[in-house]
Amino acid sequence: HRPICRLLSCPGTVAADLKREEQPSGNVGTGSEDSVLQKRFSEVQKERREEAQRTVLISCPNKISEKKFLKYLSQHGPINNHFFYESFGLHAVVEFRQKGSVASLQDAACTPSLGTEAAVPFRSRFFSVKLKNPSTSEKSSVQRSSQSPPSSKKLFELLCYAESIDDQLNTLLKASQVTEENAKLRQLTCSLIEDIAAAYFPYCTVRPFGSSVNSFGKLGCDLDMFLDLDETERLNAQKTSENFRMEFQVKNVPSERIATQKILSVIGECLDHFGPGCVGVQKILNARCPLVRFSHQASGFQCDLTTNNRIALKSSELLYIYGALDSRVRALVFSIRCWARAHSLTSSIPGAWITNFSLTMMVIFFLQRRSPPILPTLDSLKTLAAAEDKCVIEGHNCTFTSDLNRIKPSGNTETLELLLKEFFEYFGNFAFNKNSINIRQGREQNKPDSSPLHIQNPFETSLNVSKNVNQSQMQKFVDLARESAWILQQEDKDRPSPSSNQPWGLAALLLPSVSNSRSLAKKKGKKPASERIKNLLDSIKSNNTENSINTSGK
Ligand code: CTP
Ligand code: MG
Repeated sequence: HRPICRLLSCPGTVAADLKREEQPSGNVGTGSEDSVLQKRFSEVQKERREEAQRTVLISCPNKISEKKFLKYLSQHGPINNHFFYESFGLHAVVEFRQKGSVASLQDAACTPSLGTEAAVPFRSRFFSVKLKNPSTSEKSSVQRSSQSPPSSKKLFELLCYAESIDDQLNTLLKASQVTEENAKLRQLTCSLIEDIAAAYFPYCTVRPFGSSVNSFGKLGCDLDMFLDLDETERLNAQKTSENFRMEFQVKNVPSERIATQKILSVIGECLDHFGPGCVGVQKILNARCPLVRFSHQASGFQCDLTTNNRIALKSSELLYIYGALDSRVRALVFSIRCWARAHSLTSSIPGAWITNFSLTMMVIFFLQRRSPPILPTLDSLKTLAAAEDKCVIEGHNCTFTSDLNRIKPSGNTETLELLLKEFFEYFGNFAFNKNSINIRQGREQNKPDSSPLHIQNPFETSLNVSKNVNQSQMQKFVDLARESAWILQQEDKDRPSPSSNQPWGLAALLLPSVSNSRSLAKKKGKKPASERIKNLLDSIKSNNTENSINTSGK
């Protein structure tokens, strides 16, 4: 059992469920140490998956009467909940109470007859609703739920109006994290892709992984999907006592990798030819981890579909546990990611940049190094594992406790403000040339090779998570970390008052040109930092293109 307050800010995963559950006990906001049982990752995913199977996606005309629309759909059965959003036109996500309603709606739908083009018939859970008589269409339009992060300008304003640096970090988290509705849309998209993949593999499951489910997802982040063809779950349910064992006759290929490539190749074709709303399908089969990348236009997600990387699913669960253990973890990770994006340390284009995943590992490691530690090491989570948690994938031991309630809360009470400052100091002075970051043991290790940044993959320990990072990107990270530590130190001495209209705290750290302008200032003896920052803010405020701090994508 653990305090409720720990999870209240979690995104559409556990927290939302907990909030619902705790209402009757009347403990919300009392700050009392009453506790609730926290859900396991697998339980949350199972519930979301089941919910998605009862859900449909409907493209709607721009002007539609919500009431009439819902009344029309209710003919097929009661509706649990619904919302509208915009992505290349208006769409509705409608969750029925029973699965049978979906089949009933499908029976009532037809394949459109197009003018000059022809339709490839496909019976899915993605529909279009047409008004038979558009002249009677409604005047008012429905309320749309936002699926994108706040603009940089809006975020900047929110930060400037916050009361403290701690408040800034929590504000940033609340404003940019995946919402409950966005989480539903992600799971629904996986479920729709699963229907397409089921044309080839009727027993497959498409599971979201990565930031969509690990509690570190930001609105607008990509949707990582795992095509699971493992039938062990189904087989476990069968009797094993009989003397006979039936096996399928299958085609053999020389390696697991070739099998993966063949599977993804046909699924890629299938998405391209028959997948409603799937565009820009790219088969990237020669990557270390082969994948099919595509845009799911109706949901607005950039999707990466992989198979045979079950370990990534485990690493999503591990991050979920770390994110749920202490409310400071996610606040700090979101802020560091936002800071890195603002300074172009991360990018949506693959390359020699640090990735969000690497940054998350760095924050986790840093929090393991505090005294007392804020997060436990992976090895200690392994010692807490129950028998059913035992997990070995391709010879790699991926065992750790799945039960959050077994983990002792940290006694560390450091503020987010202090942690932010210390993070920059810690990594501004870290011996990256010598040491590797290792969250399994929670201490530095000698680097096994000469890569500029070495972060050991927690499960495949011979892999470096940040192998792609080059020396100049590493140097840029260190320079910016030092500079940010310096800015926060200066503020400590001469804190701008919130009424002075100057960006302060986290907001000051996000200004993109601070680094450049400082080196320029050094050369040319320019104005003091505070004035330059104020000018920058003014220019951002007047800049409607909102490109100054790019917070979109990864
Ligand atoms: N992954 C990994 N090793 C890497 C890169 C990725 O194990 N070098 C796994 C991680 O589990 C990661 C997932 O693949 O969470 C998805 O990768 P990616 O989309 O790059 O990262 P996300 O964590 O999803 O973050 P983002 O919001 O940037 O998409
Ligand atoms: Mg991702």
